[in-house]
Order: sequence, then structure tokens, then C-alpha cells
Amino acid sequence: MKEVIIGGVGKYTPSKKITNDDFSHIVDTNDEWISSRTGIKSRYMSSGEDTSYMAAMASKKAIEEAGISVLDIDLIVLATCTPDMFTPSTACIVQSIIGAKNAVAFDISAACSGFIYGLDIAKSLMNSNKYNNTLVIGAENLSKFMDWKDRSTCILFGDGAGAAVLCKSKEAGIGSSLCKSEGEKWDCITIEGSDVDSPFVEKKTLRDSKLKMNGNEVFKFATSIIVKSINEILEDNNLTLDDIDYIVPHQANIRIIEYAARKLKVPMSKFYMNIEEYGNTSAASIPIALSEMYEKDLLKKGNKIILVGFGAGLTYGATFINWTI
Ligand code: ACO
Repeated sequence: MKEVIIGGVGKYTPSKKITNDDFSHIVDTNDEWISSRTGIKSRYMSSGEDTSYMAAMASKKAIEEAGISVLDIDLIVLATCTPDMFTPSTACIVQSIIGAKNAVAFDISAACSGFIYGLDIAKSLMNSNKYNNTLVIGAENLSKFMDWKDRSTCILFGDGAGAAVLCKSKEAGIGSSLCKSEGEKWDCITIEGSDVDSPFVEKKTLRDSKLKMNGNEVFKFATSIIVKSINEILEDNNLTLDDIDYIVPHQANIRIIEYAARKLKVPMSKFYMNIEEYGNTSAASIPIALSEMYEKDLLKKGNKIILVGFGAGLTYGATFINWTI
């Protein structure tokens, strides 16, 4: 069997829901600014759950939906920019929590594009015939890296996880993808991490582990690459926008998507949006959206879907999916 399909999806979000009004007690902001500039009304935030726990909960659901045993999972690819630890990988911790004893597990770092990169990596490895059932996870605990004094970033992000089980099939499922990066813009979004310091370092590099973002630069980048990526994916798969049932974009800002919809001349209803409830959950946003669409029974066998993501790196990517479940 040559094709790779999505056999099941699942999501997990923490129970604590934070509204825009809640933020007005932390920084100088208000619901009107946040909702009109971003489309966000609320987001879920961890009250102690780390990335691995949220990823494991979403994975259990996806495995259940796929109707396979956890022991059938032979590969775990976890996309995150907010791992539990530098090492081990969060994927290995997830492997332990869910008991996926037969899997090889590793993380990838592509920020908000991580799930798209993860699908592409998993599909390529599965096509090498080494693996049959892969868990691709996007999971983030962004709240632990927020600068709670910076009103332009702390209001944007949410925590959560989404997962998909990829299986081999005779049916066509995941089509062609594109994954790209523009490393010269790496400093547009950073979570810096540890200082470069030891008894052997004369001049330390001091680093800040809070998220920093040049929002305007990322906004410009996102609006241009969404349109470009969607057109490229359509061409690669010999499709037109009329053939597509849904575009599931990374949920970063509703104005980015409204701009892309205008440029592509497609109605906003073709884009699945849930930023209003979840905020920007980085690598988790696309699999959370897919899982929510599945739960709401919006996805029908044969639906044609484009996933498109962009984020720190700067990275971006898109994938075409023929929905098969
Ligand atoms: N409440 C009230 N006012 C605010 C807030 C807030 N929460 N945040 C910023 N402002 C103010 C600013 O201080 C500024 O005030 P000034 O004019 O007096 O200086 C004014 O609002 C305008 O600020 P801008 O930054 O120009 O606002 P903009 O409309 O561009 O929105 C935003 C900022 C929401 C960050 C937008 O640029 C954006 O969404 N960028 C894209 C982010 C993104 O896509 N990230 C994805 C990747 S994330 C990842 O990879 C982990």
C-alpha cells in the first residue's frame, strides 16, 4: 500500500478558559482591541498540564478514533516550540504516557508550521516502508513562555494539543506538501532559552526565555505566503479553488485570513476558523481545528482540504488532503 491517509484525529485543551476581559486585569488592554485586531475572544491556558500531557491526551483520542491499538503505533513525530524540557524530547515522554512501546519518537521544531512539517516528514518515512502507523502531534504550552507585561503578545496565544494518526491505505489521502523556511528572518519571533555561559566563556550571551515577536513583520510575511502556498499546492495537485471544500489555516489572526480570502477571491466560509475560542496555539492550531471539524461532523469522505501554516523561523508550509474517514 503506497498511500498515506489520516485515520483518526483528536484534541485536548486545558479546562481553564481565559477571556479578553480577564487580560484587562493583567495588562492595559480590552476586549474591543483584542477582538477587532485579532478575532480572538478567549483561549485555553494550562493550569499545570505540560506539553507532553496535552499531547498524550490528544493522541489517545486520535488512536481511539483510528480504531487501532497503541502498540500498532511505530512512529511518533511531535511538533512543538514549547517542549517540556530541552531533553528528552517531548515525543519520548508522550510515548511513555500512552504506552506506545513499539514506536520511535522524536520532536521537530518549526513553530506554527510544525504540524505541516510533521505530516510531510511522517509521510516520507512511511513511504520508505519502515513505518505503518504514525502519530503526528502538534502540542504547545505557550503560556509558560509569555511575557505577561507585553500586551502585544500575551493576549494572542493559547495552550493545547491536536493529533492525527497516519495509516497506510490503498486510497489517496495526504497529497503533495510544500515546506519552506526563510531563516534570514529568524529574529521575527523568538523564545531564546539559556544563556551561553560557562567557566570557559569570557563574554556571556544573555538570553531571554520569553516569547518576543515583531508582529507587523510576521503579519506581512503571513499574508503573502498563504496566497502563494495555496496556489502552489493547487497547481501541484492539479486542482482549482472550486475543487476545495475547506482551507484550514494556522489560526494566528483573523485579519491575515480575511486578507488572503480577498486576494484569492474566495469567501471566508471556505476557511475553517476557530481562533475566536482558542487563540493562537502555534503547532497545535491546525490539528485542533481538524479534530474539531471532525467532531462537528463537518468533514465528509472525499472532501478536499488544504492545510496552510506559517510561523517562527520564519517557516511556512501547506498540504493537500483528500479526507477518507
Ligand atoms: N491592547 C491594546 N492596545 C494594544 C495591544 C493590546 N493588547 N497590543 C498592542 N497595542 C497597541 C500598540 O501598543 C500600538 O499602540 P501605539 O500606536 O500607541 O504605539 C497599537 O496598538 C498598534 O499596534 P500594532 O502592533 O501596530 O497592532 P497590529 O494591528 O499590527 O496588531 C498583532 C498586532 C495582533 C500582533 C498583529 O501584528 C499580528 O497578528 N501579527 C501576526 C502575528 C502572527 O501571525 N504570529 C504567528 C506566528 S506565532 C509563532 O510562530 C509562535
